[in-house]
Amino acid sequence: MSLSRRAFFRNLGVDRADSVSPNLIASRGREALELWRNGLDYEDGFQNTRMTEGAIVISSNENPLGPGPAAYQALLDGLDQTAGRYPTNFRPSHRDLMQTIANKYGARPENITLGTGSGEILENGALAFTSPDKALVTADPSYLQAVGVAKRQGHAIRTVSLDANLRLDSEAIARAASGAGLVFLCNPNNPSSTVMSASDVEALVAEVRRSSPDTYILIDEAYHDYVTDPAHQTAIPLALRTPKVFVARTFSKAYGMAGLRLGYAIGQVETIATLAQWTHVFNSNNLANAAAVASLNDPQHVEQERARNKEARDFTVGVFADLGCEAADSQTNFLFVNIGRPAAEFRNACAEHNVAVGRDFPPMEKTHARVSIGTIGEMRRAAEVFKQVLA
Ligand SMILES: Cc1ncc(COP(=O)(O)O)c(C=O)c1O
Repeated sequence: MSLSRRAFFRNLGVDRADSVSPNLIASRGREALELWRNGLDYEDGFQNTRMTEGAIVISSNENPLGPGPAAYQALLDGLDQTAGRYPTNFRPSHRDLMQTIANKYGARPENITLGTGSGEILENGALAFTSPDKALVTADPSYLQAVGVAKRQGHAIRTVSLDANLRLDSEAIARAASGAGLVFLCNPNNPSSTVMSASDVEALVAEVRRSSPDTYILIDEAYHDYVTDPAHQTAIPLALRTPKVFVARTFSKAYGMAGLRLGYAIGQVETIATLAQWTHVFNSNNLANAAAVASLNDPQHVEQERARNKEARDFTVGVFADLGCEAADSQTNFLFVNIGRPAAEFRNACAEHNVAVGRDFPPMEKTHARVSIGTIGEMRRAAEVFKQVLA
């Protein structure tokens, strides 16, 4: 190990590169615990100071194992050379990453723009395509990052309730899209965990293109790699052949790189160019780029991660079912469970046992809680807490 690498790890408080775990790189739960310790508000409602190290943090839909072995190796290999170089002067460069993504989908790098997490794509989408007169259309509840930007900018927002099965209501969304600036379609949806089928997505896009041709459509597929329902397919080919449609993807979930902050948008060149006007230059870093290229070249790992998550997800669905609590049909790495009582009550009781579950999700916070899927070992231990708390 070189001197510089040794110094780097010493600063991290560890002696050897081998002892840096993927969890550290994925920064799993660290942000939450830090904010929690400081008593600060956190997106997932972490304000409870009773939690300690060793807590089971199943509140932020993170991958409990961090990056896969190929990505992890790329991070270690890159450490010596990357830090001092701009992304143009290090291989793989951000351009190499865009080419790797493009190759996967039969596209060109011009069809892609990177984001510091896919959250940046969502925010830029709201900035580029909504205004006080051009509304953002979103399901409710759904992921709020684009809504937050639209709100802060004073842009119009239209919300559409989920249907009785907590799925996105494609017909109601198509109706609400008339004259809108941007439709935000979170598929699978966070927090409800349900998926819209590929045929419904196609029908919705066709209807919006027909009835409101100036409206852009952003399909957020953050949890795509966790879907096991065969009715779902990625909308990337649809986006590549349809004007004004783009898909957001992230390396934060199945790829286990939430702490490295990398996502992308893919769509037609004109759409991506308009979106990219809001992007900061060099918004991805060398380590993230290298780990992402390695991940994309190791598709088997994502298959394994999907299977690992499904096993722990099925187990947890069964635990809640035995307690009389029904979970929506999860196609993600989290559950949205009808616990029949306020989420805050459940969350605070779980926190007493060092288990962190998700924040309130209005308008369903009086009945539903969101629980992320950790490792099977974590879910077995958390299950004992759920049994005590919900008994
Ligand atoms: C549906 C959805 N989209 C986007 C994001 C943003 O993730 P990131 O910025 O880490 O890519 C999240 C994060 O939880 C999410 O749940």
